[in-house]
Amino acid sequence: MNKKHIAIFASGKGSNAQKLIQHFRNNSSAEISLIVCNNEKAEVLQIASAEKIPSFLISKNDSLQKLISELRNHQIDFIVLAGYLLLIPAELIKEFPNRIINIHPALLPKFGGKGMYGMKVHEAVKSSEEKKSGITIHFVNEEFDKGKIIFQAEVLLNENDSPQTIAQKVQQLEHEHFAREIEKIISTG
Ligand code: GRF
Repeated sequence: MNKKHIAIFASGKGSNAQKLIQHFRNNSSAEISLIVCNNEKAEVLQIASAEKIPSFLISKNDSLQKLISELRNHQIDFIVLAGYLLLIPAELIKEFPNRIINIHPALLPKFGGKGMYGMKVHEAVKSSEEKKSGITIHFVNEEFDKGKIIFQAEVLLNENDSPQTIAQKVQQLEHEHFAREIEKIISTG
């Protein structure tokens, strides 16, 4: 099987991107070929440069065509969103049908949608007094957090948990499962 090429889209810290890079280094099924980022100050860009992975910084005035050509130049097969805060345009979804995957730090369909990212998600989970939270890995469609769910993992919460400790528990699940699940999707996709 030919190695698949993955582009990671990220806007922030990049801890999941880092885990994905580690997992797919010397992996026979896929490699991380490109990091796409919309924020020049994002730490994920430093990770890309330290790991010698090409990065592409999207600026507001760039056309979608520019991004699509960049993805084609790197022969990208799959796009993985790891903390990417912009809505993916419909044309890009058409270009990569069932090949764009997102991770959301809660158990969708609850606690998703526009504006639900980062600590806002964990604060909402805390204020609804949920007994559990978790991660959702899903395909991306035209609406925030509404695409087909591929995988979920749960973690129990207790009343002493704060949004910060919920975030830590959820991040642990992300780091444990995301790369492995991506590899499974890629080998069946
Ligand atoms: C993760 O919690 C992920 O679920 C969400 O954004 C966060 C990214 O964190 N979509 P990091 O930048 O990978 O550390």
